[in-house]
Amino acid sequence: MMKTEPESPAEPRRAGWLQSADQAGCRDRIWKLGLLTGLKADDAGAFTPANFERALVLDRLIELHRPARILEIGTGRGLGCLSMAESARIHAAPARITTLDFLPANAPQRWPIEIGGERKILHASRDEIWSRHIDAALTEPLTQIAGPTTRTMPALAREGAKFDLIFIDAGHDLYSVVHDLTYGVKLLAPGGIILMDDFAPLEEFGLGTCVVVPQARRFFRKVETFPTEGLVFGGAVQPDAPRGMVLLSEPIAQDVAVSRVRLLAWRLAGFILRLCHAPQFFPLRKS
Ligand SMILES: C[S@@+](CC[C@H](N)C(=O)[O-])C[C@H]1O[C@@H](n2cnc3c(N)ncnc32)[C@H](O)[C@@H]1O
Repeated sequence: MMKTEPESPAEPRRAGWLQSADQAGCRDRIWKLGLLTGLKADDAGAFTPANFERALVLDRLIELHRPARILEIGTGRGLGCLSMAESARIHAAPARITTLDFLPANAPQRWPIEIGGERKILHASRDEIWSRHIDAALTEPLTQIAGPTTRTMPALAREGAKFDLIFIDAGHDLYSVVHDLTYGVKLLAPGGIILMDDFAPLEEFGLGTCVVVPQARRFFRKVETFPTEGLVFGGAVQPDAPRGMVLLSEPIAQDVAVSRVRLLAWRLAGFILRLCHAPQFFPLRKS
């Protein structure tokens, strides 16, 4: 009889297990947290569980890698960082989580939410919603830093901060993705991992992540892209080509330097890429 090797913790089947039944408990708690912190609503009032699957991926990474220092780029309304705090507690892998966003915790934002079975759109801040609806044990491990990543990430690098898991999920334009990955690599601890959201070749905002993947291959031995959106909770925008994520692991370089001049050039590249989406620049017209 053929002997089957047990799955190695270093070789998780990151895409396949998303749909597997043993995620049921995890699915329920992420669904509950997602209804409070991750719902999206369009102008017609239709609510969708926008890529709640990212929290399943983060849960699995925390279970496997047990990162002690986590950095999230882009707090949003909190599904990413709060689900990571919950996963760390459930997997007995205590972690401190630093999360960065333009918006301070007390700034009101548009907030689609489901409370007691009723879906509505509030205008509320993280402070307000978290203090009313989120277990304080989940907010305790968090440090929120407000400001653009062009300021907050270089500041962390100057302090010599290092992180074992970095979740990049802030601006999705080309320049923001290049900037956040560049400083993400700078802030990564030896052996650390980076997870990037929104690998979406068919959508304008997904191009930034697509462009940096080949660059990332020069800095990581392992680069995995896999679909996530809608696979478990439904609600994919493009069901035939669902948005995905990129996982970068086994970093090659221990010491990296950031070139601010080259970053400036990527600002220009980002501007040109935006023009590529403008209908008036496309060389084809209906006659
Ligand atoms: C998609 S949301 C983050 C969702 C969150 N990671 C989660 O999993 O629930 C993106 C957030 O990034 C923030 N953001 C976008 N560009 C940014 C920048 N350049 N600097 C700081 N925050 C930024 C936005 O304010 C927004 O709250």
